[in-house]
Amino acid sequence: MAANSYFIIGFMGSGKSTLAQLIAQKLNLAVFDLDQLIEKKYNSSIANLFTQFGENAFRQMEHDTLQELINNQNNFVLSTGGGTPCFFSSIELMKNKGKVIYLKASNQTLLNRLLLASDSRPLLAGLNEEEMLHFIDMKLNERNSFYSQADIIVDANKGPNEVAESIFSHIKN
Ligand code: S3P
Repeated sequence: MAANSYFIIGFMGSGKSTLAQLIAQKLNLAVFDLDQLIEKKYNSSIANLFTQFGENAFRQMEHDTLQELINNQNNFVLSTGGGTPCFFSSIELMKNKGKVIYLKASNQTLLNRLLLASDSRPLLAGLNEEEMLHFIDMKLNERNSFYSQADIIVDANKGPNEVAESIFSHIKN
């Protein structure tokens, strides 16, 4: 199989980091996590960057970090942040470099997972269950036109190994 680069996109809680690891392992590629690259580059947590500089500035940092990785690396798997493909021309940037894979999960799956892991996510801070469901609904509506531009779309409501298998079957074809 020819080496390439793969970009994992999807909402918070869709399983991007786990799937990026599994795919990178199987294809023997380097794996990066965009949130981690941002935190390293700006020497600050994502939550701090939001608080200190606001979302607009964060989106610029996110885009710049993505651009840098694309300029400097080949043959990798990148786990993006939930909003990455939806700002500037980041979706085109990724599609021009490699294959974009969207982990599509239902609102209920996302809610269940995010209720367990919302602490480090500034956009979800302080939301109760009902507010979080409303937030997920609203954001998915906003973001759908970006997410749906992915080259490969997989059902991410299953366990990670099953999702990985369905990605591999698409990549092979
Ligand atoms: C965001 C998702 C987060 C992180 C930031 C904003 C979003 O990444 O980039 O908190 O806008 O959906 P994960 O999807 O990895 O949680």
